[in-house]
Amino acid sequence: MPTLTKLWAREVLDSRGRPTVEVEATTSTGVSALAIVPSGASTGRHEALELRDGDPHHYGGLGVRRAVEKVRTEIAQLLVGVDVDNQREVDERMIRCDGTPNKSRLGANAILGASLAVAHVAAAARREPLWAHLNRLYNHGNEPNETIAPSVPLPMVNMISGGLHAGRNLDFQDFLVIPVGAKSYSQALAMICECYRSLGRVLAKHGEEATLVGDEGGYGPKLKSNARAVELIIEAIEAAGLRPGSGMAIALDVASTHFYDVDTNTYRLSSDGSLARTADDMVALLSEWTEKYPIVSIEDGLAEDDWNGWEKLTRQLGGRVQLIGDDLFATNTARLTHGIEQSAANAVLIKINQIGTLSETFDALHLARANGYRAIVSARSGETEDTTIADLATATAAGQIKIGSVARSERLAKYNRLLRIEEELGTGATFAGAGALKLKSLHA
Ligand code: PGA
Ligand code: ZN
Repeated sequence: MPTLTKLWAREVLDSRGRPTVEVEATTSTGVSALAIVPSGASTGRHEALELRDGDPHHYGGLGVRRAVEKVRTEIAQLLVGVDVDNQREVDERMIRCDGTPNKSRLGANAILGASLAVAHVAAAARREPLWAHLNRLYNHGNEPNETIAPSVPLPMVNMISGGLHAGRNLDFQDFLVIPVGAKSYSQALAMICECYRSLGRVLAKHGEEATLVGDEGGYGPKLKSNARAVELIIEAIEAAGLRPGSGMAIALDVASTHFYDVDTNTYRLSSDGSLARTADDMVALLSEWTEKYPIVSIEDGLAEDDWNGWEKLTRQLGGRVQLIGDDLFATNTARLTHGIEQSAANAVLIKINQIGTLSETFDALHLARANGYRAIVSARSGETEDTTIADLATATAAGQIKIGSVARSERLAKYNRLLRIEEELGTGATFAGAGALKLKSLHA
């Protein structure tokens, strides 16, 4: 039973060149492992708090030296001596010691770094891949007689970036594709790359600057409307010889919280018809789009606290489209419970740093599964070489993963990790595939 003997932290940089927390854990058996915390840009109000220094002389106030110090002192004191296999105990100690509802005292970045580093070192001490260790932890919290086998997730992949990730060139944040026709993860990835290259050629043909990419590696063209982005992607799918809809489907992350005006209760679009819209107008627009285009998944179609709007959206589209709550749920079981009770959304985006510990992430995934909500494990727009989410999505058989585009190495590190996992699982590897979307129209 290896115990934790040392916990250390340092300030490193993420994919936007902003500081983030790296934590290194060491066991009594002399094994060490690292984890790095991601960071969002289009963050929701209900996320756990990321501690930043606010010192204008150090990375313009974005430094994380205080969070690093918390790990080196308070958190290390709290955790040294603990059994590294006891993830729940590790996480609960930190939650209790922090004592705030949003982890603002120790910082969700400090807490998550420690939580993940312990999981990594526990797996390393057992000489097993992280996904195997996480799968055991995940099943431990399960109902008796239900063992979830690991499964490689179906990716949803950013092709065109807008919103806060690409200088507000478009209102909607992500225009993505889902390789629903793929029979394996590696085939899915090859199809995605085909589609991405094809889109580059399509954009160039239409006189768009295809080489400029957003924070998550999607192309960032300045198009005349949001609908135009969808149309160009369909053209790219066809040009790549893939079938729009049955081979390659479309997904959106509207990220509407970020163009919602709380004072007037309206959604402020800069194109696609009337500019100020009510929730009903948004539901009508999205319904129209799902009829016109092969869209199978919509994330944050409405804002983070527009529960009534979400209920309407779900009533109207929930039977035929995956409706994902990102800012809406913030990977928080209390918010997800509210959503389940109100029949708002039918899927949850899972971001480890929205909630701040691995155990609470498992709780959100268990809750989603028990209530028939789909789950999509997601990266943040600020990422690093850390690949934990690839193992997490596989270990919990979440079904889907959202990492960003197939450009920029902080994204590819995860896509490549999934290739290795697929190989490690060998002939027994199950691929979640289109079934993860639970849409009747796709179940051939
Ligand atoms: P974020 O974006 O990491 O900037 O919050 C990702 C998303 O909205 O899904
Ligand atoms: Zn989102």
